[in-house]
Amino acid sequence: MSKRKKVNRAWLAQHIDDPYVKLAQKHGYRSRAAFKLVEIDAQDRLIRPGIAVVDLGSAPGAWSQVLRERLARPASAGGGIDGRIVALDLLPMEPVADVEFIQGDFRDEQTLRRLEAALGGARLDLVVSDMAPNLSGVAAADSARMADLVELAVAFALAHLKPDGALLVKCFHGSGYSQVVELFKRSFARVAVRKPRASRDRSAETYLLGRAPKAGAAAGHPVDR
Ligand SMILES: C[S@@+](CC[C@H](N)C(=O)[O-])C[C@H]1O[C@@H](n2cnc3c(N)ncnc32)[C@H](O)[C@@H]1O
Repeated sequence: MSKRKKVNRAWLAQHIDDPYVKLAQKHGYRSRAAFKLVEIDAQDRLIRPGIAVVDLGSAPGAWSQVLRERLARPASAGGGIDGRIVALDLLPMEPVADVEFIQGDFRDEQTLRRLEAALGGARLDLVVSDMAPNLSGVAAADSARMADLVELAVAFALAHLKPDGALLVKCFHGSGYSQVVELFKRSFARVAVRKPRASRDRSAETYLLGRAPKAGAAAGHPVDR
């Protein structure tokens, strides 16, 4: 058997046995990724009724589903959501009720403008980014692409968050990680590292949470768009 087939089989076996995959199916979530946000939110209380949130790298839509659930108004109050959710991804996404979706590459200026136009100047309480590049297998190149996405998410958050807003971002605990943590510390008054149980141990994936953007951090940001 080729090495690739072996890896695929191992992945499939693990996927089938994965309790989070089963839980996701049970709850109707589109991906096990839902539980990463659920777990972080249980600790950090990021999602509250009434908030305005942007979900970057949203497809297939599990985080948008979690956000939508948390903002849902009871049917007796007319349904819909209390707050606003704007989601964005390179890939198409099946609609999630009450979630506005923009398809585009977050690295493109034009996509950023479309997102900003959708927000119409509204300040955000929360930006979540689960964006991850397609992995090439070359660690240095993958880390650099990931760091680029994280920097862009930080620049976006600094420009659009309310003073007490928060940014939750996926990053890789590999080369370039300490620079990303430094960027967070320069940008936010409070910074925390989260590795939810639903994030596989062998995965380099880690989440950084920044709260309360520092005044002036946006202007001094190194990212040039
Ligand atoms: C791990 S998945 C996100 C899963 C999602 N949080 C969920 O719960 O369903 C990462 C997503 O990031 C998106 N992505 C990667 N690079 C991107 C970019 N430059 N712009 C927009 N989306 C991007 C991918 O298309 C992919 O759908």
